[in-house]
Amino acid sequence: MEKITINTPGYTSDILVGEKWETVSELLPQEDTIIITDHNVKKIYGGLFPEAPVLSLAPGEGSKKIEIVEDLARQLLDAGIDRAGFVLAIGGGVVCDVAGFLASIYMRGIRCGYVASTLLAQVDASTGGKNGVNLRDTKNMLGTIRQPEFVICDPAILLTLPEQEYLSGLAELIKTAIIGDKELFEIIESSFDKIEARDSDLLTTLVAKSVKFKGMVVSRDEKEIGLRRILNFGHTFGHAVELQKGIKHGFAVASGMVLAAEFSFEKGYISIEEKTRMIDLLKRFKLATRFDLTDEQMKDLVFHDKKKTGTDIHFVFTHGIGKATVEKIPVDEALFFYNKFRDK
Ligand SMILES: NC(=O)c1ccc[n+]([C@@H]2O[C@H](COP(=O)([O-])OP(=O)(O)OC[C@H]3O[C@@H](n4cnc5c(N)ncnc54)[C@H](O)[C@@H]3O)[C@@H](O)[C@H]2O)c1
Repeated sequence: MEKITINTPGYTSDILVGEKWETVSELLPQEDTIIITDHNVKKIYGGLFPEAPVLSLAPGEGSKKIEIVEDLARQLLDAGIDRAGFVLAIGGGVVCDVAGFLASIYMRGIRCGYVASTLLAQVDASTGGKNGVNLRDTKNMLGTIRQPEFVICDPAILLTLPEQEYLSGLAELIKTAIIGDKELFEIIESSFDKIEARDSDLLTTLVAKSVKFKGMVVSRDEKEIGLRRILNFGHTFGHAVELQKGIKHGFAVASGMVLAAEFSFEKGYISIEEKTRMIDLLKRFKLATRFDLTDEQMKDLVFHDKKKTGTDIHFVFTHGIGKATVEKIPVDEALFFYNKFRDK
């Protein structure tokens, strides 16, 4: 087991990678814990949950709504949860985002911790303190940044994850490798069979490396005013596809990464060999999907992106495997590039 600690002003968050999730009871207060999960996770693992009331959400992005948060808050109140209460999320990114948001606003904030049950939640969604819900067609429009006390990332819980969900998480792992960890990229490149087999030791190594990188970034820039923006590699175009086509987050980000790699090559930041290596790795895991939104659709979505400021956007470029920078570019430049490279 590897413990990675993220320190931000006022908070310490321990990410326990390779820990058995059933040990979570040892981290909870004696009473006043409430568990938030989704129906799928409850069906498979509910019998092993710690002794506490369980609130279960419908699985999927549709549960990331303010109405759901309000409903959960009412149920916390009915269950007598006060300021000494503890919210334990057991689930993927959706459950962690909703439960983390609720815990951060309920009675102006109560304690919370997560058991991250998807690869995406382990490598990305559960770490860093961002949480929130969607508003109309804009993702994560309402939310806060607040670190959970702990996150457990147990590779064993990933064995029941549907293949597409597993691959979706792998895309975020590849993202971390491209922007910040060349060694991680090389391990992924050379471990195809073990990754497919969900090898427990390998997953512990990969998740720990990814969490360490994200933890370093978040510790330096929790509020995303600088460095943290690099975590959005592939997200400008990716979020647009995710919303428009309703595909899984990781697949959308993977497509966004293909375009961002092409854009970086076009700008002369990476060689053709580096670009090919990045895109080939995504293709090997069948992650890159077609990019066939019309220019108008892309324009609408990019203009609603909350990362846009005025007519500019912070776009993340790669400068080689393990390196990335953020540049403020006109939205029009991103759209011009999109028109040039999209599938027609
Ligand atoms: N807060 C952040 O920093 C951050 C970062 C990245 C992504 N996100 C958010 O995360 C969300 C996506 O998360 P996700 O991909 O984990 O999706 P998810 O939470 O919807 O889970 C995917 C599916 O897997 C099922 N599932 C979960 N654990 C399982 C298990 N162990 N075995 C079997 N089935 C299981 C769920 O019921 C669901 O159907 C998006 O809303 C995205 O915006 C947040």
